[in-house]
Amino acid sequence: MIEQLYTPEQVELRNRARELAENAMRPVAAKYDLAQEYPWEVQKAIKKAGLSGVWIPEEYGGYGGGVLDLCLVVEEFSRACGGMGVGYAVNALGSFPILVGGTDEQKQRWLPGIASGDKLIAFGLSEKEAGSDAGSMKTRAERDGDVYVLNGEKKWNTGGSVASVNTVFAVTEPGRGARGVSAIMVEEGTPGYTVGKHEDKMGIRCVPVVEIHFENCRVPAENLLGGSEGRGFKHAMITLDRARPGVAAQAVGLAQGALDLAMQYTHERQQFGQSVSSFQGVQWMLADMATQIEASRHLVHAAARAIDSGAKNISKISAMCKLMATDVAMKVTTDCVQLFGGYGYCKDYPVEKYMRDAKITQIYEGTNQIQRLVIARSLLREAAAGEK
Ligand code: CAA
Repeated sequence: MIEQLYTPEQVELRNRARELAENAMRPVAAKYDLAQEYPWEVQKAIKKAGLSGVWIPEEYGGYGGGVLDLCLVVEEFSRACGGMGVGYAVNALGSFPILVGGTDEQKQRWLPGIASGDKLIAFGLSEKEAGSDAGSMKTRAERDGDVYVLNGEKKWNTGGSVASVNTVFAVTEPGRGARGVSAIMVEEGTPGYTVGKHEDKMGIRCVPVVEIHFENCRVPAENLLGGSEGRGFKHAMITLDRARPGVAAQAVGLAQGALDLAMQYTHERQQFGQSVSSFQGVQWMLADMATQIEASRHLVHAAARAIDSGAKNISKISAMCKLMATDVAMKVTTDCVQLFGGYGYCKDYPVEKYMRDAKITQIYEGTNQIQRLVIARSLLREAAAGEK
């Protein structure tokens, strides 16, 4: 990272996140990966370091940072552990709909707990039959007096079993497609709200990814985000535009973390009487990886700065940075495993975990095929409007 491109506050934030990642995350990353358990000790350390909810405005108890600040922190966490990186970032995904579409009262109600780290939040959009086609969701929220009655289920709910509150998207007006979807805040412990299957995952294993079931779950109508129905799908899309750079930053951190390990290993490993890193073939691989990571980082930060500046039409650059950084992370982490040879394929070294953690970044918060669709749609719209 070229420090001159960032404010002293951003450099301090990045350094604080790096220190925490090195001291509190890296030493326990393998343990939680193996156990597939949520690292509450890490959550406490994040809270103690004052890094919870850096993206939340000061008026709601947060640090007052933007998407760039979020990305700086997520990259550092993910450089030590990709699972811990997303365990943190998913709280931004869950709380962006409140920031984007909530009333001031709703912001005051839910954001301070997340900003302080006392509460965790999840994001319930996907369903078994509604993944890429998020608008085809079936979970129903029916108004009954001053409550909504929820029935249905959500899939791929990251952090859902440890979150105090879930931002749930449900159909309030059937037959209207995306325009019939609303966002409703559902708190843990509400009767009829249960956590179902825990996925047994390839990577990001320290973060639970669960199904959430709703059975006649009665939620106060005041939990409807923004106070009016039918705006949920738009809020979900605006949220994803703001959150995708966070996934991209996770990918940059994973790629950088794997490259750090490969740099050290290829320097120390001796073959044919010399350090493996003295071979030009290896040096070119290292140079290509470092270049791809740096290019991804700058695209992620450009997207984050665009969002923080309040620019409109940020869908394209947000999707571009997610597409590029996550494809780079998959390639770089795979090449790093290659540089470790047989040792890279074994759990004696941490590099294989980076490759496992990287794979999901090409899939969640919109597959990279969906990112291409978002980019192409923007390009065609711009061309039709005569924009460059
Ligand atoms: N900003 C604002 N509004 C938007 C928007 C955006 N970026 N994108 C779409 N909209 C609006 C449209 O303007 C349209 O509004 P009107 O009805 O008023 O015209 C409405 O939303 C519907 O838009 P589309 O017709 O374009 O919608 P679509 O059905 O074709 O879907 C899509 C578009 C891009 C494919 C979208 O469905 C999508 O992003 N799919 C991927 C979903 C995704 O990323 N899921 C992962 C969630 S994360 C998760 O589940 C796991 C986890 O916890 C980490």
